[in-house]
Amino acid sequence: MIKHHGSETLNPLFVADEAKRLELQKEAEQLPSIVVSSAAAANAVMLGSGYFNPLTGFMNKADALGVAERMTTTSGLFWPVPILNMVENASGIEGATRIALRDPNVDGNPVLAVQDIEAIEEFSEADMQLMTEKVFQTTDPDHPGVDAFNGSGRTCISGPIQVLNFSYFKTDFPGTFRTADQIRAEMTDLGWEKVVAFQTRNPMHRAHEELCRMAYEAVDADGILIHMLLGKLKEGDIPADVRDAAIRKMVEVYFPPNTVLVTGYGFDMLYAGPREAVLHAVFRQNSGCTHLIVGRDHAGVGAYYGPFDAQTIFHDEVPENALDIEIFEADHTAYSKKLNKVVMMRDHPDHGKEDYVFLSGTKVREMLSRGETLPGEFSRPEVAAILMQHYRSGS
Ligand code: ADX
Repeated sequence: MIKHHGSETLNPLFVADEAKRLELQKEAEQLPSIVVSSAAAANAVMLGSGYFNPLTGFMNKADALGVAERMTTTSGLFWPVPILNMVENASGIEGATRIALRDPNVDGNPVLAVQDIEAIEEFSEADMQLMTEKVFQTTDPDHPGVDAFNGSGRTCISGPIQVLNFSYFKTDFPGTFRTADQIRAEMTDLGWEKVVAFQTRNPMHRAHEELCRMAYEAVDADGILIHMLLGKLKEGDIPADVRDAAIRKMVEVYFPPNTVLVTGYGFDMLYAGPREAVLHAVFRQNSGCTHLIVGRDHAGVGAYYGPFDAQTIFHDEVPENALDIEIFEADHTAYSKKLNKVVMMRDHPDHGKEDYVFLSGTKVREMLSRGETLPGEFSRPEVAAILMQHYRSGS
């Protein structure tokens, strides 16, 4: 199986040994504690799951700035996005060498992880601007990722962590949430070596479905890993439970058995376009995948990124040999009315815009909220029914 990023063995920071975990839990109740930001909690879950291998905890200021500027930590590790525990105010933990990190997303704020404090440092406004600009290519506060990145304070608590649970992800999505080591184990059981990963934050419409099939066939893969984001999204995006149901139905009806694993990971969407695509590649490699599909406007939002910037970054900025996983670069994919099937537009230069069925996310939402059925060329009827039910229930 493909090797992990940056190390020979996978080192998930979740404390798997139950006795040790209970002991830590007990210790944590006595430690000074802070309720972390949702972004920091999601980082802890990703570190706990082995997806962020080989990181051992939260980055310090020098590493975060190096990663933002050059996608490299001070020790020379390739890494695309700062992994930070930022707080407004660290006065409650002054002098502490070890603290408990409490979960902002679970009632009662239970302890999520224990952190050894390596340093507590302040980022200046200029540091924040630089990191924001490098990671998101904009400092516009209307960008949902920029808003979240700048909204959790300027004080950075760095140091290694031990993770005690997977926040709400394991309880809310028991059939779908997976860690990187679990995915590797499942793929080993299935005998999969060559695996195409599909990142998604959406219910899968026909273009998504066909992208998976095209990539699977093009690289002659053993299987497809549908790996959906289960964390926080911007307003208007479809909630994870509805998306999960729609994707499962689509796979059940339209893919042969044992060709697709439907799974998810516990992280909030950054909407960082190209940089997030590189992070996606890192953690799919850690999950054992040999290929990642990157299509149009991958991890994008609004008009902040060019439609294929998340592909060009792999050529222009990711050093050769930094990653082993390969990118399956997909062109804009849509249903051709001429050919009566979903195609990649680059394969059909004879087609004009009018030959395709296009629906924007906004248009889809408008149609669903008016109770209209999505066209069969755009969405499978089983998927459309689940989405309509969601919109009808108004939840
Ligand atoms: S994302 O934020 O998770 O990237 P989404 O779930 O919509 O959003 O997309 C999942 C993957 O499918 C991404 O790689 C994206 O580029 C790709 N994709 C989605 N729709 C299309 C399309 N019509 N044509 C080509 N690629 C697409």
